[in-house]
Amino acid sequence: MLKELGVDAGIIRRIAIAMYEAEMNVVMYADRAQMIFEMTPQVIRMIVDDSGPGIPDIDLAMREGYSTATPEMREMGFGAGMGLANIRKNADEFNITSHVGQGTKLEITVQMK
Ligand SMILES: Nc1ncnc2c1ncn2[C@@H]1O[C@H](COP(=O)(O)OP(=O)(O)O)[C@@H](O)[C@H]1O
Ligand SMILES: [Mg+2]
Repeated sequence: MLKELGVDAGIIRRIAIAMYEAEMNVVMYADRAQMIFEMTPQVIRMIVDDSGPGIPDIDLAMREGYSTATPEMREMGFGAGMGLANIRKNADEFNITSHVGQGTKLEITVQMK
């Protein structure tokens, strides 16, 4: 869709990486999520709001290489512990909030220029 709209390839790449990592985390660690994608000529904003176990220590979860992936997930090539760090790197603004036993919410903003 972004390609059809003529969005810059570098921006599309950053959004694809952020969305992929956020989606994989929902699939691997949460139960379900609502994803909202908003776009204006200036900015793209993604909200991934899940129901799940939440993250007890966000600073630790953000650390490169930290992962609680199971041996089964690792066998499939997941669990490098780079996802959240990569989302932050590819976003212009990144906000994460989490409540243990309830869920996690990511807000990811990418500027068009
Ligand atoms: N949506 C989520 N719900 C619960 N825990 C999460 C979620 N996203 C990430 N985590 C926790 O943060 C850790 C780091 O996530 P990430 O950087 O994406 O690495 P990875 O997915 O390779 O484990 C995960 O191993 C998991 O413990
Ligand atoms: Mg991940």
